[in-house]
Amino acid sequence: MRLLLIGAPGAGKGTQAERLAARFGIAHISSGDLLRQHVTDQTTLGLRVKSYLDRGDLVPDALVMDMLRKPVLAAADGYVLDGFPRTVEQAKASYAVVRTLGAEVQAAIHLDVPRNELVRRLLARGRGSEDAESVVEHRLQVYQARTVPLLEYYAGREWMFTVDGARSPDAVHDDIAGRIQRLSEMARTPDSGAAQT
Ligand code: AP5
Ligand code: MG
Repeated sequence: MRLLLIGAPGAGKGTQAERLAARFGIAHISSGDLLRQHVTDQTTLGLRVKSYLDRGDLVPDALVMDMLRKPVLAAADGYVLDGFPRTVEQAKASYAVVRTLGAEVQAAIHLDVPRNELVRRLLARGRGSEDAESVVEHRLQVYQARTVPLLEYYAGREWMFTVDGARSPDAVHDDIAGRIQRLSEMARTPDSGAAQT
């Protein structure tokens, strides 16, 4: 199973990805967690990306894609990708790669959460400089400018769906799992045309 989780900062991508990974026995691959680990470990990549994370800007595509290639290829039983793709450019570039592997995505899940709730969650969490109020504001602007067009680009594909992410983590998880279940049933039905491209 291959899942993508798309949502604004604080939408609950990490929270839901962890649960989906446990439920379906697949790898949880978070671009943000991996980047933060590189910063902590002061790797060459970490030193290059630190200022982007501190400002809340997107890291250049090539760096993110190089970093993700290995864990994605290693996830033989499937994965839930949290935080990638984040732009139309990343979606287009990665599609060419996964296609050659016969590994198209099976579902893309958009976690929809109102802005005031996003801000509340992020300020309450306070994950270092990244969650300072001005940086949170900037991350939300970057989401609007770069990721909302990705949602529009994916809109109308049968494997893309939106869930209300403002409910409790359990309610959101049950909703996502139910939708995935229905998508896989559709994919097993001949002529349904679900879950590819
Ligand atoms: P990333 O780590 O992806 O950060 P983000 O998108 O800003 O999102 P967060 O991880 O802060 O939130 P989340 O949606 O995972 O929510 P969470 O579950 O933690 O990216 C960080 C940076 O890396 C980017 O700014 C960029 O620089 C770079 N980057 C990453 N990917 C990139 C890419 N593809 N291209 C370029 N650059 C990239 O929940 C948040 C809080 O809310 C927690 O405290 C949680 O407990 C709480 N919570 C969760 N769900 C609920 C709920 N249902 N009800 C109440 N509280 C909840
Ligand atoms: Mg996260």
